[in-house]
Amino acid sequence: MDIPWWRDAVVYEIYVRSFADASGDGVGDLAGVRERLPYLRELGVDAIWLTPFYPSPMADGGYDVADYRGVDPMFGTLSDFDALVAGAHDHGLRVVVDIVPNHSSSAHPWFQAALRGEGRERYLFRDRTNNWQSTFGGSAWTQVEDGQHYLHLFAPEQPDFNWRNPEVHAEFLDILRFWLDRGVDGFRIDVAMGLYKAEGLPDVGDQSFKATSPVWGQPEVHGVYREWRKVLDGYPGERMAVGEVWTDSSEDLALYVRPDELHQSFNFAWLQAPWSAPAFRKVIDDTLSTVPFATWVLSNHDVVRHRTRYAADDPVTGLERAKAALLTMLALPGSAYLYQGEELGLPEVNDLPDAARQDPVFFQSKGELPGRDGCRVPIPWTVDPPSHGFAPGGVRPWLPQPAAFAELSVEKQEGDAGSTLEFYRRALACRRDLARSIPYTLEWLKSPEGVLFFTRGPLICALNCGARPVRLPEHDEVLLASGPLRGDLLPPDTAVWLRRAS
Ligand code: NOJ
Repeated sequence: MDIPWWRDAVVYEIYVRSFADASGDGVGDLAGVRERLPYLRELGVDAIWLTPFYPSPMADGGYDVADYRGVDPMFGTLSDFDALVAGAHDHGLRVVVDIVPNHSSSAHPWFQAALRGEGRERYLFRDRTNNWQSTFGGSAWTQVEDGQHYLHLFAPEQPDFNWRNPEVHAEFLDILRFWLDRGVDGFRIDVAMGLYKAEGLPDVGDQSFKATSPVWGQPEVHGVYREWRKVLDGYPGERMAVGEVWTDSSEDLALYVRPDELHQSFNFAWLQAPWSAPAFRKVIDDTLSTVPFATWVLSNHDVVRHRTRYAADDPVTGLERAKAALLTMLALPGSAYLYQGEELGLPEVNDLPDAARQDPVFFQSKGELPGRDGCRVPIPWTVDPPSHGFAPGGVRPWLPQPAAFAELSVEKQEGDAGSTLEFYRRALACRRDLARSIPYTLEWLKSPEGVLFFTRGPLICALNCGARPVRLPEHDEVLLASGPLRGDLLPPDTAVWLRRAS
């Protein structure tokens, strides 16, 4: 069998409203993405994943969809979308779009009709509530005028669909076809383990993402992905789907990627692992022993950027670790998902003024949690204020960028061999040459404590999470390092790719 494109693909997540603003309203858009396709090609990724750009009141950054077959005027038009897909394909980039099947926006015509008492069986209306909590804080139930309550596992503006209703299935099959017909190469499935809730909606003791929860991961959900897989397989060109599946066990995760279900699911265990060689090794072993096609993710638009996560109070160490983790991740079998801005070494922006914050997590927790705006600050393309090239002219971006973004801008880093951007470009180019010519399997080599050495055919990857420099494993050539080596020693917080002749 030919190796499908997505098996070793590097997919770049574009959080559309924060990537590039061509229209000049301070919000990123599809035309902005299109203008930056040459940048993405030069970076060396294989595909882009676009976060939701559908008509939306933006109660949750677009994950509250009011029309699944359109483009919000804030992001452009359907013609802009078509032009972006065509342009991406011309640049050799595949396009993955987000699909949000767990819930719609409360502005969706179905929910508006439900409020009027028509078609309530498309959502989860009940006379009595249970004790479920919204993922964003507070009760998962909101009461409507006639006294009934509806379930929303996220914001009140995101009512959950009733997937026990065949009409919902038919609607989503049609939505998939709509975008497949427009040429998309795949889907990223939001809250893929949501959709079905246990019959009777029983109270829960603990609502975390457990394989045994009545809230998440019901067995019926797999029937949905079997239906979807048939649709995807009916199109030419290896169309794919990757699930956003949060669960506490790799065995449960593996169920979503059985041969007749999704092609991939995000590996959040990798992103959740602390800066620790044993922790990384455990995730690698669990992953490779349970899923046929692995994915690796360090950052996305929902979590603290990994530069900050690995060393909250020490940005220099944080960046060294972020680069080392990236190089390690790119050496693993499977596909890697990057998040816009990590190639610039962007940190989490922790000091956004409260007045600028937009994430419902901040509001629903009554300001107790900062929310996710800190990883969504618009990309700095140039050194120039007020938007660092994100928007035209003097337009201000929808979230303020810290002054430090000037130094991290693309303009500043491009051509500087020591920059994070040029490191990413070298790593991606080197991986592209290697990925398909080395075995998909990995072997561990003996290594000192706090250090990982593994090999895939001629490639050896070494990562030092410890406090002392260690001797490099035997090799013939150094291919690439995330930081300076000291002779034959690998310093702490550094990774390296080596080649051995046989
Ligand atoms: C996951 C998305 O990535 C996140 O941004 C969103 O808030 C929730 N799903 C709800 O749609």
